[in-house]
Amino acid sequence: MPADASDDYAFALVKHEKAGLIINDRHGALACALPSWQVFNDSASAARSLNHNLNLNGLPAYDIRWLSSLESCISQPVVVLKIPKNREQLHYWLNQLARVTPQSTIVMTGMAKHIPIALLNWLEENSDEYEQLPIIRKARAIRVRGWQSPPLSEWVGYELSDGVRVGALPGVFCRGQLDLGARAFLEFLAPESLQGPLLDLGCGNGVLSVAVKNANPETDVHAVDDSAAAVLSTAENAKRLGLDISVSQSDSLTDVSVSFSTIICNPPFHDGHLQLTNIAQRMFEDSRNHLLPGGRLYVIANRHLPYLALLKKSFSRVLTRPAGAKFVVYVCER
Ligand SMILES: C[S@@+](CC[C@H](N)C(=O)[O-])C[C@H]1O[C@@H](n2cnc3c(N)ncnc32)[C@H](O)[C@@H]1O
Repeated sequence: MPADASDDYAFALVKHEKAGLIINDRHGALACALPSWQVFNDSASAARSLNHNLNLNGLPAYDIRWLSSLESCISQPVVVLKIPKNREQLHYWLNQLARVTPQSTIVMTGMAKHIPIALLNWLEENSDEYEQLPIIRKARAIRVRGWQSPPLSEWVGYELSDGVRVGALPGVFCRGQLDLGARAFLEFLAPESLQGPLLDLGCGNGVLSVAVKNANPETDVHAVDDSAAAVLSTAENAKRLGLDISVSQSDSLTDVSVSFSTIICNPPFHDGHLQLTNIAQRMFEDSRNHLLPGGRLYVIANRHLPYLALLKKSFSRVLTRPAGAKFVVYVCER
């Protein structure tokens, strides 16, 4: 994915600064251009893209840190923040920045069509200094200082079943309520009968792993997600519920070396603001290579998504089963 006009805009505004923080640089363009800056990301795939781009440019690999450890950063005069799609996530990062580097000027950029006026108003209302710069090549830039940290519930959740609550950090998928697809998936799966070792691929808050482990404590359950906040949330849910679920961060199955009898997956169909099937496709291909003989991949999806053809590229047998009015479950065998 190339740099976009909002990367160029951010770079033009900060290029003379010797040091600073780069937050949420999805594809590594800014970090490559500002090699002495410190980089904080949430996503393992973003970290991989950055290191790939550094390599292509003959630059040494970065020590990328996760946004969940932003509290550990040292104070900097300037922060460049690529505006995420999720407003709560932005709120969370700004509140953390206000604690650790309160004097910073924060330069935020994004494509104008993704930045609603309500967001601009909210940023203005909650900063001591606010400056909205002209739109250039459809990209918008905002400078703020003195973020006032309006209150935010950092841990939000819901009751999955009697006495079983799951929560999550800001930015984690469906942190406030059970996703309709996940609900249909759980009704379809009968979690108590699934064969372990089992992998929950793209675990989010870990709701599927929790349901499986809770229904069948003997099943060996592993959960992975690209997002550090999702991984932390799943691990925290497992800890609070006393469930032994192993959790790790990985871009699809890049960093997973073991194989499974069952993989369950409620795949993402967005990457930031883009609706894409490429992440799901990689998950399907990687799942095929991480299934034990006789193993199965179960995928839940909206009926309209074109997953059947993608799954058939990797699996010799794919059954399509209805799951409620809007969803289907694909049952895939090697
Ligand atoms: C539709 S959500 C499902 C979350 C949860 N399993 C549920 O059912 O509520 C998809 C999840 O995939 C994760 N994801 C996105 N890209 C990924 C990637 N490249 N590798 C692993 N996980 C990814 C997202 O962070 C998100 O948590």
